[in-house]
Amino acid sequence: LKFDIQPAANAVSEADRAAKLRDPGFGRVFTDHMAIVRYNQTDGWHGARVESRANFPLDPAAAVLHYAQEIFEGLKAYVREDGGVNLFRPDANARRFRNSADRMAMAPLPEPVFIEAVEQLVRIDSAWIPGGEGSLYLRPFMIASEIFLGVKPSAEYIFAVIASPVGSYFKGGPAPVSIWVSENYTRAAIGGTGAVKCGGNYAASLRAQAEASDHGCDQVVFLDAVERRYIEELGGMNIFFVFEDGSLLTPPLGTILPGITRDSIIALAKDKGTQVREEAYTLDQWRADAASGKLKEAFACGTAAVISPIGQVRSASGDFTINGGTAGPVTMGLRKQLVDIQYGRAPDPHNWIRKV
Ligand code: PLP
Ligand code: COI
Repeated sequence: LKFDIQPAANAVSEADRAAKLRDPGFGRVFTDHMAIVRYNQTDGWHGARVESRANFPLDPAAAVLHYAQEIFEGLKAYVREDGGVNLFRPDANARRFRNSADRMAMAPLPEPVFIEAVEQLVRIDSAWIPGGEGSLYLRPFMIASEIFLGVKPSAEYIFAVIASPVGSYFKGGPAPVSIWVSENYTRAAIGGTGAVKCGGNYAASLRAQAEASDHGCDQVVFLDAVERRYIEELGGMNIFFVFEDGSLLTPPLGTILPGITRDSIIALAKDKGTQVREEAYTLDQWRADAASGKLKEAFACGTAAVISPIGQVRSASGDFTINGGTAGPVTMGLRKQLVDIQYGRAPDPHNWIRKV
């Protein structure tokens, strides 16, 4: 599939771009272009283009608007000190996108097309990648575009990639975050869609996230849907626990999103000989281990959040503090190690970086 590249006629001026890049926050500023590829049953994937970022014409009966047949990904591009651009593990995002498509009965997008779309967009919008600790957040997504109200897999899809220059996901940067344990709402059950990145998972998490905000917390953490005891993950991040013997624990895959950051942290920790267990861990055990000092640190991780220390845990059954509410050395050490690889400041032993 060859992309037709149409540079935007209405691209913003250099001065306007510089103003927008000054303090981008997360997900509010967008670049000039988007990549788009369409699917139908006669032509398969076709019409690959990079063009001016613009509205989609969408029929009110488009399937996505009714039954939420939608999936997405999130990955970042980073500027290296030599001025080049790094993508971090785009092959892993492409693979997860295929798995998401499969679960949502959508047309699978060939992985090379996913990667090519991301690379072409990064190339044409490279001036939008913030320097320093900023990055360009890439958002590939796919929607069901068939005009039909019957409940069945759509026969037509639009795949697109948009890009957003970002700073830190949390307002406080890498400062410790507070999390609220959702005891009223769960995120995913076995056999459901918890392990894939579909928009509906996030729609269903918003009420719980609002409850977290009402309790003054940055993020919500979900418990398992069966016993309501085991820690699963946050609304948009995985979670790790650090113990006094230096070992790490993270909840096992199954109903959680298989995070690429999670997988990378496991690999980096194991490289150093750190023991990593992928095991179920209850809220009660977490509270007890925090009280006894057995648990030293906890952190959230994901593309948007990078690695963010967890300082406070609040729940209907009581609050507790991790590491005195401050960022711990294991968390910050892993964060530095990961970020240094992403920005090309450290060797890349696992071949995670793709230079654009
Ligand atoms: N869990 C959820 C629910 C997410 O939305 C994300 C973000 O993508 C993650 C975990 C972390 O995944 P990754 O590290 O691949 O960004
Ligand atoms: C990501 O880290 O890429 C996410 O998807 C988290 C959130 C912005 C949905």
